[in-house]
Amino acid sequence: MTQGGAGKRRGRVESIHPDSIAVPIEYTDNHTGILVIGEAPGAEEQRTGTPFVGRSGHILRSAFERIGVQPEWITNLLCWQPPANRDPTSQEIDACLREHNTQLWHDLHPRLIIAVGTIACQFFTGQRIGAAGGRYYNTSWGIVFPILHPAAVLHDINQAEKENRLPLAMQEFENHLNALRNYL
Ligand code: URA
Repeated sequence: MTQGGAGKRRGRVESIHPDSIAVPIEYTDNHTGILVIGEAPGAEEQRTGTPFVGRSGHILRSAFERIGVQPEWITNLLCWQPPANRDPTSQEIDACLREHNTQLWHDLHPRLIIAVGTIACQFFTGQRIGAAGGRYYNTSWGIVFPILHPAAVLHDINQAEKENRLPLAMQEFENHLNALRNYL
């Protein structure tokens, strides 16, 4: 079930999608207090209005199922897909949190925030994913656990094929998931 920012149009997020509907927080029936937060919706998420339902979303959701993580909420820092899938700016993130994802500030009180990918990791911990992935951080938001973004795994698999090497990011992703499972 999804609620939250559904149907809200952009406020001061001038640089992205004037006409599209914000992709809201997905609320599940799991009362675990676990919030999963990525970077921004991709094309499939923007089309369906649900976060993490494209290729990397499937990888993430099945990895969570495999290790027994049952998120209560799933969302992104940004409520829209940025043009040409570029990285969100900090102004855009800030505007989305203030104007559209206000539940994050006010209502959710997650017991654990799983920050997916480098942008979410940087936002919550101020650290790069290479250093912070697979560890937990006590932040003003609560406990944050950054993991590698599955899109980075997919990208690395393609690159590895071209460069005739092993796909290393897959192992890193698994390491982060194992650390997360051990933390829970
Ligand atoms: N990548 C993200 O960070 N979030 C999504 O919802 C989909 C892909």
